Amino acid sequence: MPQQWQQLADSMTDTLVRQGRLLDPAWQAAFRDTPRHRFLDRIFTNDPERGWQALDHDDPAFLELAYQVEPIVTQLDGDPDAWRRLRDGGLVEGGIPSSSSSSPSLMAQMLDDLHVQDTHRVLEVGTGTGYNAAILTHRLGDQDVTSIDVDAGLVDAARRHLHKTGHHPALYALDAERTLPDGLFDRVEVTVAVRAVPAFWAKHLAPGGHIITALASGLSSNSLFDLHVDTATGLLTGRTLTDPAWFMPSRSALLPPPHTLHARIDAVAGHTRDTDMPFSLAGDLGSDLAPLLAPMFPTVQRHYDTDWNWLIDLDGSWVRHNTDTDTVTIGGPRDLWAGIETLWAWWTDHDKPSRGRIGLTVSAGDDQPTMWVDSPNHAAPRTPS
Ligand SMILES: C[S@@+](CC[C@H](N)C(=O)[O-])C[C@H]1O[C@@H](n2cnc3c(N)ncnc32)[C@H](O)[C@@H]1O
Repeated sequence: MPQQWQQLADSMTDTLVRQGRLLDPAWQAAFRDTPRHRFLDRIFTNDPERGWQALDHDDPAFLELAYQVEPIVTQLDGDPDAWRRLRDGGLVEGGIPSSSSSSPSLMAQMLDDLHVQDTHRVLEVGTGTGYNAAILTHRLGDQDVTSIDVDAGLVDAARRHLHKTGHHPALYALDAERTLPDGLFDRVEVTVAVRAVPAFWAKHLAPGGHIITALASGLSSNSLFDLHVDTATGLLTGRTLTDPAWFMPSRSALLPPPHTLHARIDAVAGHTRDTDMPFSLAGDLGSDLAPLLAPMFPTVQRHYDTDWNWLIDLDGSWVRHNTDTDTVTIGGPRDLWAGIETLWAWWTDHDKPSRGRIGLTVSAGDDQPTMWVDSPNHAAPRTPS
C-alpha cells in the first residue's frame, strides 16, 4: 500500500500536468518522488477571520496542506521565533512572509521555462525550504545543483531536510544581490523577486546560459524575465515571459508600507494638471504595460485612501488621481507622473506591445535598465531619475 504522502504527491503532480505545466517526464518524476511535507517543519496559514495561524506536523490538516498546489509560508518578518510566539498565543508584528515553499504550479512553470538539460549546472537563488533544490537534484544529481539563501538559518534547515531525503547539493548562505557562488552555471533560477537585476550576474553564466528572475515592483505582479548574455555586447538582456508570476521581494527589496510614506506627504504643495494617460493603467498590475513600468519605477507603490488613488515613491515623489476632474496632482522632489506618462506614450505609439515582447538590458554602473520592445534596437526613452 503506497504511503499517504505518496498518494498526495501523485495527485498534486497530476494536477500540475492537467494545468499544462510540467511537460517533461523527468520533472514529473521529481515531483512524484519528493516528499514536500518533509521540507516543512513549521508553517503559517492565514485565515481571513483569525489571521496568521502556526501549524506543524502534529496538526491533522498538515499533510493535506503540504500537497496543495499553493505556496506555503514558512517564515514571517525574517524572524525565526515568530512561529513559537504565535503558537504560544502571542502576536506577530508585521506579518510579512519572508520565506515559503513556492506554489508548485509556479515552480513547474519556471522549470519548464528554464529548458533544463541533463548536463546542465543549475544555481537556485532562494533555497527557502530546500524543496525546489530537491526537485532539481532529483533530476540533475548532487554535483550539478547549487542553491543559496540570504538567511543562514534557513540554509541550515534546508540542508537538514535535503540530507534526510537523500540530496546533497552545494548550499551557501549568500545575498544574491551582492555575491553569487564561484563557478559558471547553465541556468540560474531566481525564486525571489529582486528590485533590480545585478549586472555582475552575467559573469556567472556559462556560454548559452539563462537566468530566469522575477522583478519586484509595486506596479507589477512581478514579471519573470528570461535573460542571457548578448555575445556582441557582453550585456545581460532578455524578454519577459508571458505568464505573470508572483514571488516575495528579496530582503533588500522590501519597502516601507505605502501608508507610512503617505503620512509624510504635503498634498497642499502639489500642482494639478490634465493627463492623457488613464490613471488606472499605472496601477493595473497585470496589464501589458506593467512589465515596462516596473523595472523603471521599482520603488513606486500604490496607495488608496478613502477619497483618492495615489502612487508614491520612496523618495517622497507622489501623484494623486482626482477622480472628479480626471486630473492628476503631483508633488515631491520629481515629477513621477511625467516619467510614467512618457513610457505609456511610447508603449501606445508602438501599438501597445504585449508582455512577451518587452525586454530589458542591464549595464554595469547604470542605475536603470534599458527597456525595449522586440529587440534591444527599439529602446524605450529613459525616464528622469
Ligand atoms: C519564495 S522563497 C524560496 C522558495 C524555495 N525555492 C523553496 O523551494 O522552498 C524566497 C527565499 O529567498 C530568500 N531570499 C530573499 N532575499 C534574498 C537574497 N537577496 N539573496 C538570496 N536569497 C534571498 C528568502 O530568505 C527566502 O527563503
